[in-house]
Amino acid sequence: MTSAQDIQTLGSVPDSLRSPSSSWGAALPSRSPPLPLKPFNTQDIKILLLENVNQTGQDMLNGQGYHVEALKTSLTEDELIEKIRDVHVIGIRSRTKLTARVLHAAKNLLVVGCFCIGTNQVDLDYAASHGIAVFNSPFANTRSVAELVIAEIIALARQLGDRSNEMHRGTWNKVGSQCWEVRGKTLGIVGYGHIGSQLSVLAEAIGLDVIYYDVVALMALGTSRQVPTLDDLLQEADFVTLHVPDLPETRGMVSTAQFARMKQGSYLINASRGSVVDIPALIAAMRSGRVAGAALDVFPNEPAGNGDFFNSSLNAWGDELRELRNLILTPHIGGNTEEAQRAIGIEGALPSLS
Ligand SMILES: NC(=O)c1ccc[n+]([C@@H]2O[C@H](COP(=O)([O-])OP(=O)(O)OC[C@H]3O[C@@H](n4cnc5c(N)ncnc54)[C@H](O)[C@@H]3O)[C@@H](O)[C@H]2O)c1
Repeated sequence: MTSAQDIQTLGSVPDSLRSPSSSWGAALPSRSPPLPLKPFNTQDIKILLLENVNQTGQDMLNGQGYHVEALKTSLTEDELIEKIRDVHVIGIRSRTKLTARVLHAAKNLLVVGCFCIGTNQVDLDYAASHGIAVFNSPFANTRSVAELVIAEIIALARQLGDRSNEMHRGTWNKVGSQCWEVRGKTLGIVGYGHIGSQLSVLAEAIGLDVIYYDVVALMALGTSRQVPTLDDLLQEADFVTLHVPDLPETRGMVSTAQFARMKQGSYLINASRGSVVDIPALIAAMRSGRVAGAALDVFPNEPAGNGDFFNSSLNAWGDELRELRNLILTPHIGGNTEEAQRAIGIEGALPSLS
């Protein structure tokens, strides 16, 4: 505790030996005043928002007085080239492709706001070489995906999808055989990034033991443990869940050889990218009983809009997949919650405001 005497003693310390009062900045020699930013009238800044960007983000930009045009859909390359000519800021989601040809036509473009997670729909090399800043929202929907996976782990262990489908068809099928609690089981997380690590924390809270595999050595959260290889994870985990990006090395990373290494009666969840799992190999592993259940939120080919498109015309194995039991199929909704969409709207709009 500091006494009155200490304060008096401190008072006699020469200035040169004192710590700066608030931050190191206070001790630095004074700098020349910052250059004033070039003032601009917000009404002169044209912002084009495509693909029905969340209303919260639109409201923020309108509230600041920017000239905002918001469209509900994406545009074709030729339509974009026409529309983007005099725009200063463009806000897109994942369907709008900002190719070098489109960006070349944008003579005033300063900022691209990707109101989504990925940026692979933008020619980043072209943008960087022409001084166009590109922003995204890398973890706005992390929590939503992690919560969905928790729901799926329990739903698969209890065969909830099948029981619910049976009841919808009028069938009462009260069974407990091959239905499990998740407490004390092992969850294997492949890719311990934003989603994988968030999931790790949630999973431990419901009594799962967590192991993970990642190409990078990462700090383990809670009592989770990193394992050296994917094979180690597959051999030990009761539930395997995939959270890696779509890269050449992750395409088909779970195929026949990997299913053969998984425990008999284990479960697979993929809410990362459709390219990561070899679906015909999954169908075989489920038919043989090696995999007792699976949840898929993402697919190699996904339709551009909602409708009756999930069939063998979209993916050759579509009909075979739909016949499997204890298989939860969802239309890429991992990150689709009100909270995530609002967060993406705000995070996408903020860089444009500054
Ligand atoms: N289903 C959905 O709606 C939805 C929503 C958001 C994100 N996603 C997808 O989820 C995935 C993970 O997202 P994130 O935000 O956690 O990404 P992230 O970049 O934070 O984490 C990815 C992790 O995977 C690791 N990794 C990369 N290559 C690997 C490999 N070959 N083997 C093992 N680990 C590897 C990386 O080191 C990193 O730690 C992405 O594919 C993303 O597109 C899906």
